[in-house]
Amino acid sequence: MDNKVIPYGRQHITNEDIQAVIETLQSDYLTQGPKIAEFESAFAQYVDSKYAVAVANGTAALHLCALALGVKPGDKVITTPITFAASANCILYCGGEVVFADIDPTTYLLDIDNVRTLLESSPKGTYKGIVPVDFAGRAVDMEAYRKLAGEYGLWLIEDACHAPGGFFVDSEGVEQWCGNSNFADLAIFSFHPVKHIASGEGGMITTNDEVLYKKLLQLRTHGIVKSEDAYTNTINFAGGKDGYPGWYMEMQMLGYNYRLTDSQAALGMNQLKRADNGLIRRREIAQKYASSFVNKSFIKGQSGIVEGHAYHLYVIEVEDRLGLYNHLKSNNIFAQIHYIPTHLMPYYRQFGWKEGDMPRAEAYYKHCISLPMFPTLTEEEQQTVINSITNYYHG
Ligand SMILES: Cc1ncc(COP(=O)(O)O)c(C=O)c1O
Repeated sequence: MDNKVIPYGRQHITNEDIQAVIETLQSDYLTQGPKIAEFESAFAQYVDSKYAVAVANGTAALHLCALALGVKPGDKVITTPITFAASANCILYCGGEVVFADIDPTTYLLDIDNVRTLLESSPKGTYKGIVPVDFAGRAVDMEAYRKLAGEYGLWLIEDACHAPGGFFVDSEGVEQWCGNSNFADLAIFSFHPVKHIASGEGGMITTNDEVLYKKLLQLRTHGIVKSEDAYTNTINFAGGKDGYPGWYMEMQMLGYNYRLTDSQAALGMNQLKRADNGLIRRREIAQKYASSFVNKSFIKGQSGIVEGHAYHLYVIEVEDRLGLYNHLKSNNIFAQIHYIPTHLMPYYRQFGWKEGDMPRAEAYYKHCISLPMFPTLTEEEQQTVINSITNYYHG
């Protein structure tokens, strides 16, 4: 066995990517330049949404979504415990309260039946929204969530960080791309290096709602507007005569600096061009894992082959997960665990969450392990991973 490290995820930077970044660094704009709009419009087209807003990272995207939807102190929002903490934290940033509902143990996604039970058990109006997550790249049936949300007057943020290029098939047989916002009010993505599209740090919000879109643009830049139609101070106050002077702008709401830079956008834009190829390779890798583990007694569950799955992660559930993790590590294979259930993070325990609250998520956590999954994983490397796992269990 060679000593090359095999991580669970790895970015892929080509000479063309580097060239695109260099060109941007040599241009007139390091930030707030033309690369942002270019990336936004290409990304919106890729996921089939009307609008896209590029932001500093996926967490900023979630925060802006919660702000744009008006989350305020005391608002209760439902999400899954099997996700990165940011899916829940964005609600806390606005003073809201996170209510977890358990996962479906076969899909690993937020179980809509549990969400329905939660909604039915409280007076209407108790909850304000739901944040379903396309965990591991498996698409949530957002049509079903829209229907449920409609019954209770809730908004929906789809956390699609794991799923650019993923889709589910709706009730009319149409492929609905993750983050197309045909059913969600807003959807978000991350361009962290382990994601399908890497820009270092980076994120995107997609929507089909023009009002939310305009609000997001404003919130991304300090709540500032630069448009005569929107001003509320008088021309006289602004120091103009026949119109507002060229320098004039207004801060009309409390916003942030959550902007992406132009070099990050250039890198993201170039990576986006290869996203479909990356997805094809991810699906091949998934196919090989799935067929290698079929009928293996040590496999309790796995991501498997699912139409429209974007395979950000390939998860298997096994007995003696710690032993397997350490065995892989000793062979330079760095698997990872996704995720420690958010409701049991020490920070969330202060709100009363405790072991036993989400039995399926907790059972999943005891056994799950994410295997190396990235487009440049070679066949040989993948075979090394598979051999190492089967050797561990069959010694
Ligand atoms: C499901 C999910 N949501 C949100 C985020 C936050 O994205 P970022 O790391 O870009 O802030 C991540 C990224 O780790 C994620 O995996």
